[in-house]
Amino acid sequence: LSIHDFIRQIPKAELHLHIEGTFEPELMFAIAQRNKVAIPYSSVEEVRKAYQFGNLQDFLDIYYAGAAVLQKEQDFYDLTMAYLLKAKEENIVHTEIFFDPQTHTERGIAFNTVITGIHKALLDGENKLGITSKLILCFLRHLSEESALKTLEQALPYKEWITAVGLDSSEVGNPPSKFQKVFEKAAEKGFLGVAHAGEEGNAEYVKEALNALKIDRIDHGNRSLEDPNLVKEIVDRKLALTVCPLSNLKLQVVKSPDLHPLKKMLELGMMATVNSDDPAYFGGYLNANFIVMTDALGLSKEEITLLAKNSFAASFLPEDEKEEKI
Ligand code: HPA
Ligand code: ZN
Repeated sequence: LSIHDFIRQIPKAELHLHIEGTFEPELMFAIAQRNKVAIPYSSVEEVRKAYQFGNLQDFLDIYYAGAAVLQKEQDFYDLTMAYLLKAKEENIVHTEIFFDPQTHTERGIAFNTVITGIHKALLDGENKLGITSKLILCFLRHLSEESALKTLEQALPYKEWITAVGLDSSEVGNPPSKFQKVFEKAAEKGFLGVAHAGEEGNAEYVKEALNALKIDRIDHGNRSLEDPNLVKEIVDRKLALTVCPLSNLKLQVVKSPDLHPLKKMLELGMMATVNSDDPAYFGGYLNANFIVMTDALGLSKEEITLLAKNSFAASFLPEDEKEEKI
């Protein structure tokens, strides 16, 4: 078995995946057409050409613009089902999906429309494709904490469908402490917590995510490596990092594949996992992320196996279900 085939066949979990970031241009065109909404591109090729980002904000501007064609429950179902079919092809057997309700409610789409479409697809994913899943509600950190609190209120009737809350969007200038109250409230209601931290923001952002938000898992976390005491805490507490190699390269968080810190994280004893983040925008799904790292860093089958095991160990599955999948 070649190492690329080994990557393709090993069962994996994906823990950092924005459903809005799986929106392929072909589906975007189809949905824009049936909803009769205009998009600023005339062809699929033109859309792909526009996907050149120098940093996180350049990407987010395009990502939010694309999401604006999503209007009906069926649109959210189709978006989610398209990702699950990809996941099936890639031997992803468990996935924990982020969604950004404010991206849609701010445009006048009902919270119920968004979550029901996604939830129905996840049910079909489990029943027809055998893929288990969890849903994570992300607050947009460029908006106010008040808006996040309102979003949490809207989510409460759907508590059974949502496992955790998260924090995404523009990191620098929007530190975790801005959302301390809403994460406290979410914890009181029984939600787990995650947060994007240390992607563009420095190690202080990661520390705040741990101390102010009391998160259970760190999204990205690359810049934790700048603080040895923080690395020690992350290792000692067995906190997982959801690392996204192709995202880091596209957004120029890491300048080239051979400079990526993934292998270093494993060597330091950190529980790193590999994920695709926004695969329609960053040039590849989960296996492509494993492959780029394996080719650049010379990952062994043992290291790939460890990364796959970490993906289950770091998941929010109950312990007995983790055991079954590892
Ligand atoms: N970082 C912050 N916000 C995001 C990302 C990301 O990588 N993807 C989608 N929203
Ligand atoms: Zn992300």
